[in-house]
Amino acid sequence: MAYKAVYENWQADPEGFWMEQAKAIDWDRMPSKALFDDNAPLYEWYADGLVNTCYNAVDRHVERGRGDQVAIIHDSPITHTKHEITYAELRDRVASLAGALRAKGIEKGDRVIIYMPMIPEAVEAMLACARLGAIHSVVFGGFAAHELAVRIEDCKPKAIIAASCGLEPGRVVHYKPLVDGAIEQASHKPEFCVIFQREQEVASLTPGRDHDWHGFQYGTTPADCVPVEGNHPAYILYTSGTTGAPKGVVRHTGGHLVALNWSMKNIYNVDPGDVFWAASDVGWVVGHSYICYGPLIHGNTTIVFEGKPVGTPDAGTFWRVISEHNVRSFFTAPTAFRAIKREDPKAELIKNYDMSCLRALYLAGERADPDTIEWAQDVMGVPVYDHWWQTETGWPIVGNPAGIEALPVKIGSPTVAMPGYDVQILDDSGHEMPAGELGAIAIKLPLPPGTLPTLWNAEARFHKSYLNTFPGYYETGDAGMKDKDGYLWIMARTDDVINVAGHRLSTGAMEEVLAAHPDVAECAVIGVSDELKGQLPVGFVCLTKGVNRPHDEIARECVKLVRDQIGPVAAFKLAVVVDRLPKTRSGKILRAIMVKIADGTEYKMPATIDDPAILDEIREALQGIGYAKG
Ligand code: COA
Ligand code: AMP
Repeated sequence: MAYKAVYENWQADPEGFWMEQAKAIDWDRMPSKALFDDNAPLYEWYADGLVNTCYNAVDRHVERGRGDQVAIIHDSPITHTKHEITYAELRDRVASLAGALRAKGIEKGDRVIIYMPMIPEAVEAMLACARLGAIHSVVFGGFAAHELAVRIEDCKPKAIIAASCGLEPGRVVHYKPLVDGAIEQASHKPEFCVIFQREQEVASLTPGRDHDWHGFQYGTTPADCVPVEGNHPAYILYTSGTTGAPKGVVRHTGGHLVALNWSMKNIYNVDPGDVFWAASDVGWVVGHSYICYGPLIHGNTTIVFEGKPVGTPDAGTFWRVISEHNVRSFFTAPTAFRAIKREDPKAELIKNYDMSCLRALYLAGERADPDTIEWAQDVMGVPVYDHWWQTETGWPIVGNPAGIEALPVKIGSPTVAMPGYDVQILDDSGHEMPAGELGAIAIKLPLPPGTLPTLWNAEARFHKSYLNTFPGYYETGDAGMKDKDGYLWIMARTDDVINVAGHRLSTGAMEEVLAAHPDVAECAVIGVSDELKGQLPVGFVCLTKGVNRPHDEIARECVKLVRDQIGPVAAFKLAVVVDRLPKTRSGKILRAIMVKIADGTEYKMPATIDDPAILDEIREALQGIGYAKG
């Protein structure tokens, strides 16, 4: 069937469509219906079914004869190791870990924070939680102790599972002191921690609280899968919003299984047994959906890659991994390709590898610029599919449904809405805009299975962030347009979220950190365009009256403060002291104009500006740090 027919099928009978897709999942009790709308505008899917995620991702494949198939390939150019785990081995390892967690009191509904680098144990820890019905919350390794503490405070984990260290090129990331620091900062204390000791660094354990990963499994009974309700939370994943407090995106179990399984064939075009690789990190939604759950639920082989597109050891690493492991579909962020292109513009290194196994490249996480897409297409000789989605949705909203029908690519557009998503472009008053006109991108409710039903402990914030602006719709936070063929074009965020190297960051969170500096009276953080990372944060600070310490010393302290509080992932390296910030007469900081000055794009002087001369001061400040194009 062609894409249009599938989409129309869904439109004609959404519930029938999703009940049909649910048949691909092994339920302990089949749900009586797909959509539960009694609490609209909050919706749930498959709420009265009973099911276990780990069973569907692991055990069922073993029971059906895939036990010897490789489930996980760990490829770490950083440690120079490669290692494969079959589905049968994965089942035993996960059942053992789950048994040990249960012996320590972890049960259905308990929260467990996972803070681990790109090693198979990270995926095993996620699956062990799923096996017990425990709710995991994975925290990206590039976040600092404070960010970890904020998450501990919010989701109140009974346990934390961490590794002794992570490995960045040329630098060991000492996880254990970060975990200790976070627990100290948080008022909630987990009952225990499990630490996976890596060869590269053995962490000291706190007696009575910390347990060694292997030691604590000794002598415990492996755990069976615990069936949970379709609307039982599978996980919480925190993502950046407009303020310093991250949003805890909740994922319900049933819809997550059905939607991810559907996407593997219909979007990523892989069949069970094929190797699928998403070069991301388990700390992000891409890692949850397409390193851990999606490929495993669908019976694929997934790759856990601990390395970078360049420098580990060179810009040919991606080609090596693809050809060596026979990757069929490959997913990464455009930044990774920009990095490779910068190092090896003629792609000389690809000539060393047989890439005939690869069928397509999928890009997401940030805007894919046409140059990068064209370069990737030329050097790899496969279609490049941009696709657009968010932590909140958990799977693609708009993409090229290559497994149904590969639609013509329009470079710069992530293509068309997937079944389940009625994507519309709205004006400020919520009316649909004609084709070709720019507006807010919204999705008509209900969102499909697999998307967020609410925010953890924050239902009011869920309404405020996503549902209140356009009643009856989910507000995506992105602006864009649809063309006459129904292709979507994503233009910009409508809030203060920026995207740095495919990592979603909050300028508001950075401003909160800067404002806490004792010498800072006022500040603004903006995202400026960057050729490699898409955007980079730049901070402007105004000093408290009477402070006359050297400005560059204060700027350095500001940079350190953000790194210490939010983490290296913020990539916050540019801070500058200014006398004043441009504001409207009512006191609103004109951040959008500051971005335009930095990027050299045209802007209209707002009639409400308090003092236009300040814009020249901002331009000079940006020029001082090499960041004003205009
Ligand atoms: N744990 C600890 N620190 C981490 C980390 C992790 N998992 N991931 C990144 N960091 C650190 C980096 O070491 C770097 O630290 P530094 O300031 O000491 O150099 C900092 O966070 C910023 O990282 P990043 O923005 O990723 O830049 P980079 O210079 O290390 O690498 C690229 C540049 C282009 C190679 C890299 O950004 C990349 O691979 N991007 C792909 C994007 C991607 O996969 N995104 C996932 C979303 S789909
Ligand atoms: P995250 O929740 O980290 O996946 O970030 C989601 C946000 O990243 C989206 O709301 C967009 O702003 C941006 N984004 C993701 N994919 C794309 C894409 N293909 N094109 C443009 N922006 C994207």
